[in-house]
Amino acid sequence: MGLPEPPALGSMALAAGAFDGQAVVVTGGGTGLGRAIAVEFARLGASVAILSRGEEHRAAGVTAIEAVGARALAVACDIRQPDQIAAAFDAVESELGLPTTLVNNAAGNFPVPAEDLSPNGWRTVVDIVLNGTFFCSREFGRRHIAAGAPGSILNIGASYAWTGGPGFAHSAAAKAGVKNMTETLAVEWAPYGVRVNGLVPGLFPHEDETADIRGVPGRGAEDEEASCPAMRTGRTRELGWAATFLASPFASFISGETLVVDGVNWQRRAMRQPAFVPIRDQMGKEPFQLD
Ligand code: HXC
Ligand code: NAP
Repeated sequence: MGLPEPPALGSMALAAGAFDGQAVVVTGGGTGLGRAIAVEFARLGASVAILSRGEEHRAAGVTAIEAVGARALAVACDIRQPDQIAAAFDAVESELGLPTTLVNNAAGNFPVPAEDLSPNGWRTVVDIVLNGTFFCSREFGRRHIAAGAPGSILNIGASYAWTGGPGFAHSAAAKAGVKNMTETLAVEWAPYGVRVNGLVPGLFPHEDETADIRGVPGRGAEDEEASCPAMRTGRTRELGWAATFLASPFASFISGETLVVDGVNWQRRAMRQPAFVPIRDQMGKEPFQLD
């Protein structure tokens, strides 16, 4: 049986209009999980700004937000570049007003055995996931502190922040940094009325996955749903409900918390683990050799 399916797409956990008159920034909100989160804020009345590098990605986000009747703004931005982030926030403020919520969703990732990972590959993922999340949070925090306006930041994480993630040394380390940073910023900025929380998706297949992520062994396999204790994977709307709740006044005493939405997949343990398969073998790689 497993965990029941959630309510239908389009159902709202919060009251209609809960985000009326508010602007929300979602980095990487044109694709996948970021778009699902952006659409849920839009459905509840928010105007949503999408910050990302790719024009097509941003356009897809705008279409999805406008389809539920909300206002959308697309802003080109590489979150590794603090000056681009400042310019993007200027554009959001002048078009939509000071955003009340920032969702740090953008990420870069690819599976690779650590011994094959180049210094630039490591730097690239850490730069997007950890540095980019800090740079966007810093921009949001400084503007809110200066304005004396409350707000909320939501950092999208991954459960290997706690466990490590063989095949994802760069992303796991960066996500661990994000989880830790969530706790520090939450304490520093609570006196200014700014809450900072994390939201961790489990296995959430979606149509925008990159070729690298689709190539993760077992990803998209016929038995993927049955591989989880819940007997199913996540439905993207389940993240939208969690994200909007954490950003809403109903979560006004929740800060520094990271909520895992993964049907308890990350805590599964067998009484005896199956035979161990090294990452190189899982990925079908030849034995390692120095260049
Ligand atoms: C090894 C790789 C690689 C790969 C890139 N690199 N892909 N190394 N295996 N598959 C190396 C490159 O060779 C280069 O190092 C360095 O990384 C930078 O690559 P660029 O292509 O120049 O970087 P850039 O154009 O900035 O693109 C960033 C990117 C790309 C992260 C590499 O994939 C991207 O834009 N991703 C955005 C979307 C994304 O990744 N979504 C996944 C989020 S899902 P050298 O040394 O050659 O210069 C997620 C799920 C978690 O996080 C759960 C998973 C199970
Ligand atoms: P995705 O569809 O690949 O989306 C990633 C987004 O990040 C893209 O829209 C991309 O837009 C943006 N992005 C990447 N680098 C950027 C940069 N330098 N500057 C600005 N934007 C950038 O991935 P997803 O699966 O929806 O993942 C969303 C979040 O959930 C990520 O934080 C990821 O780590 C987390 N997560 C996902 C899963 C899952 O099962 N999918 C599981 C655990 C955690 P551009 O290319 O247009 O820049």
